[in-house]
Amino acid sequence: MVNFIFQEAVKLVEKATHQWQTPSNIALVKYWGKTEPQLPKNASISFTLNNCHTKTKIEFQKIQKSSEVEFDLYFEGKRKDDFKPKIAKFFDRIKEYCPYIFNYSMVIHSENSFPHSSGIASSASGMSAIAKCLTSLEKELNPNLDDNYLTQKASFLARLGSGSASRSIEGPLVVWGEHPDIEGSSDNYGIKFPYKVHPIFENYQDCILLVDKGEKQVSSTVGHNLMHDHPFAEQRFKQANDNLTKISKILQEGKIKDFIELVESEALTLHAMMLTSNPYFILMKPNTLEVINKIWEYRSKSNSNICFTLDAGANVHVLYPHNEKQQVEEFINAELLKFCQKNQYICDNTGFGAQTF
Ligand code: DP6
Repeated sequence: MVNFIFQEAVKLVEKATHQWQTPSNIALVKYWGKTEPQLPKNASISFTLNNCHTKTKIEFQKIQKSSEVEFDLYFEGKRKDDFKPKIAKFFDRIKEYCPYIFNYSMVIHSENSFPHSSGIASSASGMSAIAKCLTSLEKELNPNLDDNYLTQKASFLARLGSGSASRSIEGPLVVWGEHPDIEGSSDNYGIKFPYKVHPIFENYQDCILLVDKGEKQVSSTVGHNLMHDHPFAEQRFKQANDNLTKISKILQEGKIKDFIELVESEALTLHAMMLTSNPYFILMKPNTLEVINKIWEYRSKSNSNICFTLDAGANVHVLYPHNEKQQVEEFINAELLKFCQKNQYICDNTGFGAQTF
């Protein structure tokens, strides 16, 4: 494995500010099941999103080496001490690779483009933004470090914060998890899908229907852990890896009907794992099923290439190619918004990952 341990600073940096905007992502083949330290049980692939993102600025100030990581956290302009334990845990996991975090006090300012309690996972965009700020400081401390290496390291660090965050550094398609058919793939970090993608999958649309904005009853972390003694686990991990082989071909050849079938099956299988865990749980809501049935009905009578996917929650991600944007959005407005809490939805599309702002 590449050595991600920071070696030595060649420059003295007293004060620095780095800021990054990183997106959320939506998995097509799902990551569900992991081992320590945040290693996936199967490979996954996602579309990087564009409009759903986190903006994070970190102000670094050099201090005498401390035995604890010193930081303050502001979320949307307000001090947020209740978010600190999660970030502290993240720093603890990455301290071996970024020993310089003990030499700085950090003030972190963060904001999301989407409502905090929308059910849209903010851990992917949140962790990847912090990871990018750290690797920017690293570049300042040692300008000789290669940019590709630092991009990989950002994904590696983000993964230690939240598995899916490893897929939020680049875009528009990212694979995380070692897989024989994806050259360069690794369990340690995400890589850009390395093959040429058919134009039908360019600028793909994802309209996120906010079916339920409440706090999830079961967190992803608990869900992942329930895969340890799950009766169908091994079969599922194999299926996901097989699906990755299939989707790689589908994306290159532009076989959109096969894409629809595979992506919807992945979403339902993810939730089937939840339904069959011990203890079992359900994250879908009645309106999740209403939306799915409406999408199927519309597809069968219109020949549209609309499809859906789900993450670990009740919201529905409606996926469609850019050339169907107008008609699908008319359908969404007319038929689906009534199933959203307060008619709320977010129209997004695939993006290219982290950017400065
Ligand atoms: C259903 O990345 O949120 O969205 O690694 O414990 O932070 P942790 O879990 P997380 O799990 C994401 C699960 C998923 C599928 C996916 O994004 O691949």
